[in-house]
Amino acid sequence: MASGERGGTRADQWREQREREDRGARVAALFFVVAIVAAFGLMFVYVAGGQTQLEGLLLFIAFGAVGTGLGVWGKKVVGPKIVVEERYPMRSSDQSRDAFEAAYEESLGEAVVGGRRRFLLRLLAGAGASLGLALLVPLRSLGPGPGGDMFVTEWQDGRRLVDASGNPIRPEQMSADEVRTVFPEGAEGDAKAQALLIGTRPDQLDRDALPRETVDDLVCYSKICTHAGCPVGLYRASVGELICPCHQSTFDVNRAAIVVSGPAGRGLPQLPLGVDDAGYLVATGDFSEPVGPSFWNMTHDVQAEDVT
Ligand code: FES
Repeated sequence: MASGERGGTRADQWREQREREDRGARVAALFFVVAIVAAFGLMFVYVAGGQTQLEGLLLFIAFGAVGTGLGVWGKKVVGPKIVVEERYPMRSSDQSRDAFEAAYEESLGEAVVGGRRRFLLRLLAGAGASLGLALLVPLRSLGPGPGGDMFVTEWQDGRRLVDASGNPIRPEQMSADEVRTVFPEGAEGDAKAQALLIGTRPDQLDRDALPRETVDDLVCYSKICTHAGCPVGLYRASVGELICPCHQSTFDVNRAAIVVSGPAGRGLPQLPLGVDDAGYLVATGDFSEPVGPSFWNMTHDVQAEDVT
């Protein structure tokens, strides 16, 4: 093959390669732009009131577009790894060198390559920044800290247990296997203070396991599931188990309502019980620990006044 023909071929190959890289760069840039648009769309949807499925879809698109753009960039623009192969010196013909130089300078030179790289890097940085911004926006949902509010309920020493209608309850009115939802007198319907008063079967209650005092064979536990805060509503009297219908956390009523199975991370807090002078059931204090789902600084020993 003549050297002139070889030179022309190399110039054409160089041009084709550059065109391929340009096409790849345009596709990669398009994906980065899609990622930016999706990230801003996510922020807009969130600020406008939120829509879970749409937010998830936009997040998927944003991450997917960044990943795909990087893939295209790596495969089509950067290209395969350069391998250096030792070989004897070769010098192209002057004609071939001139043709290559002309093609290179014909807008396909280093300035273009470097400019393209800078352009893609800026777009990638823009996509990363807007995505990071979109992920930070939900922080505004955290709101103010609850302070010590999580550690106390309406229950106090001497506060009577009443049903939803405000009727006080005597211990002898409760039979084995019976379950009643109770509230502090005067705070009927209070969601945080709601509790389950349960008559256990004689001789089945493990009193040593209870963290707080009780009356006869009765136990009283928070009705709020320690998993996600749903009301625990199902009682299997035959085995003494409370079951939360939301995700099937199961608590052993006879052993301080410890978790038998399910996703809950801790047992149900116990309400200490006593009897007042008129013979009605009363609380002798608040729950043994904060009610509801656990949180990061919750300990069994912390008192409300310790929390600022
Ligand atoms: S809220 Fe009770 S198991 Fe999930």
